[in-house]
Amino acid sequence: MHTKLAKEMGLEAPIFAFTRSKEVVLEVSRKGGLGVLGAVAMTPEELDEACTWLDERLDGKPYGVDTVMPMAYEGKGEEWTEEKLRALISPAHHQFVAHLLEKYGVGELPADYERKGEDLLGWSDERGRAHVEVALRHPIALIANALGTPPADCIELAKEHGVKIAALCGKKKQALRHKEAGLDIIIAQGTEAGGHTGEVAGMVLTPEIVDAVGDTPVLTAGGIGSGRQMAAALALGAQGVWTGSIWLTTREHLDYHAPIVVEKLLEAQSTDTVRSRAISGKPARQLKTAWTEAWESKESPGYLPIPLMWMVQAEAVERIYHHSNKPLAGSPVGQIVGSMNEIKPTAEVMDALITECQATLERLCRLGGLA
Ligand SMILES: Cc1cc2nc3c(=O)[nH]c(=O)nc-3n(C[C@H](O)[C@H](O)[C@H](O)COP(=O)(O)O)c2cc1C
Repeated sequence: MHTKLAKEMGLEAPIFAFTRSKEVVLEVSRKGGLGVLGAVAMTPEELDEACTWLDERLDGKPYGVDTVMPMAYEGKGEEWTEEKLRALISPAHHQFVAHLLEKYGVGELPADYERKGEDLLGWSDERGRAHVEVALRHPIALIANALGTPPADCIELAKEHGVKIAALCGKKKQALRHKEAGLDIIIAQGTEAGGHTGEVAGMVLTPEIVDAVGDTPVLTAGGIGSGRQMAAALALGAQGVWTGSIWLTTREHLDYHAPIVVEKLLEAQSTDTVRSRAISGKPARQLKTAWTEAWESKESPGYLPIPLMWMVQAEAVERIYHHSNKPLAGSPVGQIVGSMNEIKPTAEVMDALITECQATLERLCRLGGLA
């Protein structure tokens, strides 16, 4: 499993783990993979603290940071304020959300409630740049970006620091744009993945992108929940796997999700997800819920663009979680959720991925008459 990229990055296993839990990052990197800390919900100060926490515990083992700088969003390239953006949301959208909360009996937040959710600034070039600048003050090995090619100045800055820069994509055209911009790693995200995702299945997308981008290393994202799936990604030409969903039901992630969401994740089958615009305005795979269904119903006022779609619901989502409202509670997650049926320590998930992948590769060698 010592792919060229894994060797270059000093990894013992080519497993890249996107997660918002610094504790999961720590465990994955300790086990020889690359934990990648999702920064979108953090202020730059919080990211700085989390990186320092990791630096103090990782003894020089590599980790990465993930930002969200979308190619397109309302207010991009303009002087925008929260007030200006709020004015773009129609009363019909606010009424629709209020009506849904009422219909499902979701109470208000208590007066002393401390907001935990991500703010709209997280999904912008300004915040993304601040994340990149903070991250580069730490000994990180990778910066990754969701929702498009990162801005040229961020790519340059990462290169000046000798840090690899990667981005996700769901189409060959996007992969070629990433390559042209000089990205070091391309993450091919199949439709089965959790979070923002396209329409092409990983089985088709990985080899298509591997063939298109030549010597730029490709990671397969989407549907990696076992060592057999990891071996399949390597067979398709990927130099590693980029994972997200499987960490949501690890012990080290429990504090990062409302208990009602964890309960739903453990119960869900692989058919219980949907690619919906209900979180951000862009299609993202998530649990199918009364919330996603309502936004598709004939009463729906329609989806809003980034970041307005999130703004209209940020407080509602906290109310849903706070009151453990089962029909409405959701989360981004991929189809692999059907195999996530137990809370496990991150280290155990890493061991299982590595052991099964090795066993699968050996079995395939025997099948091919090579061993
Ligand atoms: C809860 C959740 C949140 C995510 N948030 C982000 C994000 O902020 N940035 C990002 O690059 N990818 C994000 N993703 C996508 C992951 O990085 C990864 O590409 C995806 O989970 C891989 O597919 P899998 O879910 O089948 O493992 C998210 C995925 C999940 C499940």
